[in-house]
Amino acid sequence: MAGKKKEITLQITINNQEHWEETLSSKGLIVVDVYQAWCGPCKTAVSLFRKIKNELGDDLLQFAVAEADSVDSLEKYRGKCEPTFLFLAIKDEALVEEEEETAPLLAQTEDDELVPADKSCTVAIIKPDAVAHGKADEIIMKIQEAGFEILANEERTMTESEARDFYQHRAGEEEFQELIQFMSSGPCHVLIISKPGEEEDAVPAWREFIGPTDVDIAKKEKPESLRAQYGTEVLYNAVHGSNDRQQASRELAFFFPNFQASHRTTEEAIPGNPERTLALIRPEILKSRKDEVLQSIRDAGFSIAMQKEVMLTEQQVQEFYTEHTDEDYYPALVEQMTSGPVLALALVQEHAVSHWRNLLGPTDITKAISEAPHSLRAQFSPKDSTINQLHGSSTTEEAEKEIHFFFPVEHTLAAIKPDALEEHRGEILERIQGAGFTISQIKETSLSREMAEEFYKEHKGKPFYDQLVNYMCRGPCLMMILSKESAVQEWRALMGPTDPAEAQKSAPDSLRSRFAKSILQNTVHGSSNLSHAMQKIQFIFGDIDLERSIEESFGKTTLHNTPGDTMHSDEMTDSAASAGEADKEQENL
Ligand code: CMP
Repeated sequence: MAGKKKEITLQITINNQEHWEETLSSKGLIVVDVYQAWCGPCKTAVSLFRKIKNELGDDLLQFAVAEADSVDSLEKYRGKCEPTFLFLAIKDEALVEEEEETAPLLAQTEDDELVPADKSCTVAIIKPDAVAHGKADEIIMKIQEAGFEILANEERTMTESEARDFYQHRAGEEEFQELIQFMSSGPCHVLIISKPGEEEDAVPAWREFIGPTDVDIAKKEKPESLRAQYGTEVLYNAVHGSNDRQQASRELAFFFPNFQASHRTTEEAIPGNPERTLALIRPEILKSRKDEVLQSIRDAGFSIAMQKEVMLTEQQVQEFYTEHTDEDYYPALVEQMTSGPVLALALVQEHAVSHWRNLLGPTDITKAISEAPHSLRAQFSPKDSTINQLHGSSTTEEAEKEIHFFFPVEHTLAAIKPDALEEHRGEILERIQGAGFTISQIKETSLSREMAEEFYKEHKGKPFYDQLVNYMCRGPCLMMILSKESAVQEWRALMGPTDPAEAQKSAPDSLRSRFAKSILQNTVHGSSNLSHAMQKIQFIFGDIDLERSIEESFGKTTLHNTPGDTMHSDEMTDSAASAGEADKEQENL
């Protein structure tokens, strides 16, 4: 459909009033470049328009150029120096959809030059059908040959519930269940790709490269596209691409919530720059309506990057709310905050801070109920309480501080065991980076028998101890210090349970589920708590200045991590938050 003929006639030339009126009598969205005779129409926008047109392939979207002097209706645009683009919508139901899809792709810069609003990267998935057919490597090669850069490549098997969350916008469709089953049926490759180069916008470039959703149409109209080459039917269409920037941003946060934190230098290259904010669900509502609140959070498009239920002491509440201690409401606040567990959540989304605060509504519950009955604070207000039940950070800076308060940056010791290092080094390191860990120190080392015995001294006397020591010194291991908020627990979650049989059931995407051969040869090692982490780090790496490396990697922080603060299980439950910088504004309450 979008053949050469259309590309040539991309922009209609309107050269008189009559033609102008005639053009406006057709249905749809018309984007008119109103230009001055002395400079001519804007050339840089044309390739973008062509992409959008090819992308949407819809006749309701038209582009035109019109010289301001030759059309009476354009009188007020005459003599302007800056480019002027008019978006003229001639109402029609289909048009409304068109506007929503096209508008976010366009933005004005300060100089009023029309450019893609963000053009850096998008999420791509090589789906289970293509992976199962052994085509992943071939597809990855083609992606690179086409000039895309792969910033992350994570092989993972989605659980049904992940697939459901991921495709929640398609929940009403007939094939939804089939789609969920297919997407969770085996491993896929989730990639972050970018298209380097000034003019390129990764989202439409990738969509163009994969071709139409329907494989039959792809085969007819874009035989060179990935879907035409690797797809077999509509559902089994080999690859996925985000529809637009917003979706790319959501999908990025969904699969790689820490991507931004771990790739600070490429921050500006992330679609829409997903942001983090801290949300707290206070005890009363947490007790009675936790699932409803979490559902509202997901419905609003947030991804939950981290969560932790904590029982706060009075002193910790005081540290968090230090600026509020003189306020009348403070005793009631402390009472509420220490009356049971609080759920702390790090929420991720584009403009997460303001979006979450807007959803919360007014601080004062009475005001929230009367003036913003749909706000979350109004909906989730307990009877007879003066303290609202939901907290949100006020600024991005404050959000980072508050997130660090509840999820302090930690270090843990990680090891890739000898056989896994030989067989899966690259994949494991990719998963570590994709999960947002900073590798603060790394060294390949062959443990001597004595070192292996010392390293695993806690297991001395257990039936498998000798085997374990033999196994660990049969070749080099890769020893690493991994740093991240809640690193101990996060690394344990990424590793999965010690026994791969259990890992396959409860954490199918974990490293041990994927790569471990047995409970002994279980791929990776990780410290079980912060105090072990400190000991083993010192044993392997000697005395190193971890505080300095935290600051270098994450910026200055006021945290006072103590080994006892860390949770000892893989579950995200009861841990006391450590001390930290406190909240600033009464607004937040
Ligand atoms: P790791 O997390 O390194 O901690 C101790 C290691 O002992 C463990 O991974 C396994 O490699 C090994 N291990 C634990 N339980 C058993 C078991 N029941 N049989 C054999 N090896 C085990």
